[in-house]
Amino acid sequence: MAQKKINVQDYQINVGDSLSELASICGRLEPTRIFVLVDEMTEKFCLPHLQDKVDISFDSIITIPSGEKNKTLPTCEKIWRRLFNLNADRKSLLINLGGGVIGDMGGFCASTYMRGIPFVQVPTTLLSQVDASIGGKLGIDYYELKNSIGLFCNPVSVLIDPTFLETLSPREVRSGYAEIIKHGLIYDRKLWEICTQITDLKSADWKELIVQSLLVKKEIVDHDPREKGLRKILNFGHTIGHAVESVMMEDDRPLLHGEAIAVGMLAEGYLSSIKNSFSVEELQLLTEYILEIYGRKEIGTELYNNMFNKMLHDKKNENQEINFSLLKKIGKAEINQTADKEQIRESLSFYSNL
Ligand code: GLY
Repeated sequence: MAQKKINVQDYQINVGDSLSELASICGRLEPTRIFVLVDEMTEKFCLPHLQDKVDISFDSIITIPSGEKNKTLPTCEKIWRRLFNLNADRKSLLINLGGGVIGDMGGFCASTYMRGIPFVQVPTTLLSQVDASIGGKLGIDYYELKNSIGLFCNPVSVLIDPTFLETLSPREVRSGYAEIIKHGLIYDRKLWEICTQITDLKSADWKELIVQSLLVKKEIVDHDPREKGLRKILNFGHTIGHAVESVMMEDDRPLLHGEAIAVGMLAEGYLSSIKNSFSVEELQLLTEYILEIYGRKEIGTELYNNMFNKMLHDKKNENQEINFSLLKKIGKAEINQTADKEQIRESLSFYSNL
């Protein structure tokens, strides 16, 4: 599988058979030590592939427990302590091998350890390959608020090897795919049209979809690295989607991130049609495809008030108004839209009645 290189700000993303790039990165940086951060899943399923592909001996493997519930300050303390105990200095390199939690938290630990050491992101889930890998957002959850402590800081490089997708369940792949669909809907009608030809995810050309999806996000983050304006379009589907994700978790019926975002895209697609001139015909297209891939989840009306409260506390809000990014048409989104409680309720009823 040949490699595709994408330059973003001051770093490069390599997609394809890209792990061998580590040798030239190490040749260039001449790190004093090389550490790999993994969780117990990526240690078992992904580290052997990395070790097969590169002829570099790692000084130490730092393993943390997997899962979002561990994306916390106590886990960071463990990582920092390990780095100190392993005599990591400012020229040491940290390779973050894993999904969004490893990338966000490993990047956060690296960029704060001794005021910052170089790090390479090796995302292993589809979700992290198309979203968290690009744009420099790093952080952890604090006070039970997702990504509430963090910073923007770029890695030395991002190495995306679609072979890692073979370690994922079909459900996890489908979850990550939601962000690719979103990139098409908000910015690239052609990407959306490519997506709509795909009904069986097993036969999708992931390398090509990842590249097209990254090119969309690259253009957005190149324009607006600090999310002052345009970058907010990436939040389409996420205001309602995040609330769905939280309440379903509390209700002991957890959804994967992309599954919740699929619900959010349907409800916010409806909001786009009543608030933002998104046509009924395009809403129909969006609805048919997303339902075909994700089906419909049962989210009882008794959860709506709790969801609304979550949306009121969303960190994207300004002036106590719930902030949305909505579609104007397929391939174009608009930021800083609002909707009231009644309209949000109506959008959830639209979803429930599909
Ligand atoms: N995941 C949204 C962003 O990177 O801005």
